[in-house]
Amino acid sequence: MEEGKPLRKRDKIIRGFSKLLKEDKLKVVAEYIENPSEFVALLKSFWYQDKEKQKQFDEFSENTISNFHIPYGVSPNVTINDKSYVVPMVIEESSVVAAASAAAKFWGERGGFHAEVIDTQKVGQVHFCWKGKKEILIDLMPSIKKELLLNISSITENMKKRGGGILDIQLLDYTDKIDNYYQLLVTFNTCDSMGANFINSILESFGHSLQDFFKRQEQLNDDERDVEIVMCILSNYTPECRVKVWVECPFNELDGIDKSLDGKAFAEKFKKAVDIAHIDVYRAATHNKGIYNGIDAVVLATGNDFRAIEAAGHSYAARNGTYESLSEVVINEDIFRFSLEVPMSLGTVGGLTSLHPLANKSLELLGFPSAKELMMIAATMGLANNYAAVKSLITKGIQQGHMKMHLANILNKLGATEKEKSLATDYFKDKIVSYSEVDKYLKQLNVKTLH
Ligand code: MEV
Repeated sequence: MEEGKPLRKRDKIIRGFSKLLKEDKLKVVAEYIENPSEFVALLKSFWYQDKEKQKQFDEFSENTISNFHIPYGVSPNVTINDKSYVVPMVIEESSVVAAASAAAKFWGERGGFHAEVIDTQKVGQVHFCWKGKKEILIDLMPSIKKELLLNISSITENMKKRGGGILDIQLLDYTDKIDNYYQLLVTFNTCDSMGANFINSILESFGHSLQDFFKRQEQLNDDERDVEIVMCILSNYTPECRVKVWVECPFNELDGIDKSLDGKAFAEKFKKAVDIAHIDVYRAATHNKGIYNGIDAVVLATGNDFRAIEAAGHSYAARNGTYESLSEVVINEDIFRFSLEVPMSLGTVGGLTSLHPLANKSLELLGFPSAKELMMIAATMGLANNYAAVKSLITKGIQQGHMKMHLANILNKLGATEKEKSLATDYFKDKIVSYSEVDKYLKQLNVKTLH
């Protein structure tokens, strides 16, 4: 970690890195940086002073050398089914929280958001290959199921007490697609937990039990007694764990959103924009990304797994064979209705939801919601952001709002004073913002004050 030492070669393998102490890991990584001591000091400046707290964060993951901060914001005035929430949102992108908050306020004054959970079933799969006749497998299924369930009774005991557990086990035959390939498709109710560990433990136990079961079937030949377990894992595609959220109002309540459009024209143009996202995949991806701006922010703030939520949503968006918008607009007489239906497997107990101190506070801020209630809240923020994005796109465009935040970020980066910030904000009101233009403007200001 000496200054001036040549940088570590990028093609050199680092051996035993995970076993190093954190300080030593930091030193090794710093060898890739031009100014190692500045790098180490910077990363350490993001460590918590409180050693216990830092240890907790270190242990969430592996090879941790620092913490990476992302803004924690809130969107107040979110009314869902007549209940008001202050919704925590963790997101680095400017304008998302502002857009969600403005949309929440707007719809709050028009009856609020309406939401309903359609179902909460989760899915897991045991993928296996078996060389016998399908009819034999079908005949054996009742006994197989009985044995599988018996062997996991200790794992399901607590979940059963909470009202959850295994809902169904189905045998699926895919031998026409892959030789000898079958699947056990298992559905679960995991109550208020996301349930990944619960589901995966059960599936792995099912895999072992399935192999044991066949080994003991003396009436079968050697080949038939052998089951190849390919893998046992939950599915992040959860179409039966789904939530619906919508807003609606008569056209005249949309008057005045834009100077050049009355309420009816606004509603029709809005519908056109959403319809485009139903027929064109390029637009659909961006449209749905705007929805996940809102959803992910809540998912992250509550310590849930945003990759799982996105994977489910994007697969659901492609359920009809083409990737489409997740939201839709229906105009009925003079009523504008904008809705979103998304799969969402969330938890409010277990995992990071209780371990991460801020995730826990987010849940407290929301009044310790059930998993179902959290599904409605996260989906609402998705619809709120989608509304705000499409509204901007069909009226003034999104750059005006974005540029305001962009300008603020550039001014902070350039170390502008409060006075300079206010002058620059005024100056760039009707101009294109870029780093070099803002830099030039600040330099000019300084030259003027020097003279
Ligand atoms: C940007 O993060 C999200 C938008 O592109 C979404 C959209 O285009 O609908 C504004």
